Amino acid sequence: MIKIAPSLLAADYLNIGGEIRRMADAGADYLHYDVMDGCFVPNITFGPGVAKVAATCGLPVDAHLMIVNPEKYVDAFAEAGCSIITVHAEATNHLHRALQQIRAAGCLAGVALNPATSPECLRYVLGDFDLALVMTVNPGFGGQKLIPGCVQKIAEIRRMLDGAGCDAVIEVDGGVNTDTAPMLMRAGATLLVAGSALYGAPDARAFIDTIRAQYANIAR
Ligand code: DX5
Ligand code: ZN
Repeated sequence: MIKIAPSLLAADYLNIGGEIRRMADAGADYLHYDVMDGCFVPNITFGPGVAKVAATCGLPVDAHLMIVNPEKYVDAFAEAGCSIITVHAEATNHLHRALQQIRAAGCLAGVALNPATSPECLRYVLGDFDLALVMTVNPGFGGQKLIPGCVQKIAEIRRMLDGAGCDAVIEVDGGVNTDTAPMLMRAGATLLVAGSALYGAPDARAFIDTIRAQYANIAR
């Protein structure tokens, strides 16, 4: 089963609630919620306050923390009602501890990897995370083109997870659209984030249905 997470980053902020409900009505599975601190990435977005509102709008919130020392804010995002909390392996000195903290707060725990980060950093926390988020653009902005070299990393992580009997999900984020989705799903992704392509699509349901049909073809 392929899951789709629209990124709120690309929504119309004048109508955040309506923009989330529009995606829920179109058949999305999660709301991807990009948190940026102007330090780990060169952009600033929303914090736990807006997450609390987002969590009431009909989709489980998948919080992607692009912030340094994410441990400081994990509990705040959990209390805001987020379902998944993902931290960057590059943003904490204590990845294992951060993942334990996320699970202790009652959320699913994710590890995100920048394009230049080796998948090896997952090896010694296998079993401690529920989701590996592979960045296929440099984090910080929506609307960028997918970096093709990152696709191979998805397949490497797939092999690592399968080899260890680990059922963690592989999420892919950055430059996802109906042209790039097939190769990402073929490589082993089962959760796709789509920002500009999905919020900008003339028909969000048709976009999501297209990706589900592509997945069904690949899985066959
Ligand atoms: C980028 C964010 C992404 C972004 C994706 O740093 O993590 O979630 O919203 O946007 P698109 O789908 O437009 O590449
Ligand atoms: Zn993201």
